Amino acid sequence: MCYSELGKRWTQFFEKQRQPINDFLAQKWPGVRFCDPIELFMKNEDHGFSHSLAVFLRASEIAALTGCPVNMFVIATLSFLHDFARFFVPDPSEKQAQSIEKETQRLHPQYGQELVWQLDFSNFGSISEAIKDQIAKGIGLHDIFHRRFLEKYPQLLLDCNQISIFRLADKTFLTPADEARRGIETGKRRGTPFFLPDLSLKERLEANLEKTYALDELTFLLIVLGISPEDFFVEPLMEIYRRWEKGKPEAIEVILQEAVSQGADPDEVRSVIDTYLEAVKKTARASL
Ligand SMILES: [Fe+2]
Ligand SMILES: [Fe+2]
Repeated sequence: MCYSELGKRWTQFFEKQRQPINDFLAQKWPGVRFCDPIELFMKNEDHGFSHSLAVFLRASEIAALTGCPVNMFVIATLSFLHDFARFFVPDPSEKQAQSIEKETQRLHPQYGQELVWQLDFSNFGSISEAIKDQIAKGIGLHDIFHRRFLEKYPQLLLDCNQISIFRLADKTFLTPADEARRGIETGKRRGTPFFLPDLSLKERLEANLEKTYALDELTFLLIVLGISPEDFFVEPLMEIYRRWEKGKPEAIEVILQEAVSQGADPDEVRSVIDTYLEAVKKTARASL
């Protein structure tokens, strides 16, 4: 299938999901009016439709490189749905607009996982419950980057399959430097402060998307920089990540330049980065 046709098919898919998505929002947040999530998703460039398409292309490339048998429908669905719940944004006039938006950003993997069971996949033929279950699990796991947070490693990440390939694609679809730029842009869009010097190393190390305390953008960038090949469990994927991470020094340069333009002290930011990465290496070694 050519990619413009793929884009068309998924656009048609989303157009059919207005009712199930509205029903989902009404069940979760009764009486709250929301902006149109499909419209927001289609327009957004950091986590929306264009990101989904790019992740799908990268996953197809990884699947070809590894030669591992995969289900491309699962890869496509994960690519297009994993970040969708980020676009559950209440109408700004709603009283709880800000707190709900924070919650949907933070818990988008969980809400995305729940949403799968309400969507209408009939565009793609008859989709079994087992396949939906894989899609739901893959969405639920996609933003747990470090194996130290995956208490019992789910079996489905221990094989070279569609879910583990998608997870790697979502982290490596850009170069490390462009991934840092994308993180910085997302932070600006969300109004996240770039650098909070008072955040402790412990808070940064324990941070993940589910934490509720205020984090700075640097922490999210550190989470990405702190991913190691071992977080992908299986050798062909670890090797692809090893090649990708050679670009991390350039990503650090991008972050330091941003620190300067945000008026932060680049030496202080550099030392936070170094201390964090050193500590992550130690905890990662301990969890192997
Ligand atoms: Fe995500
Ligand atoms: Fe993503």
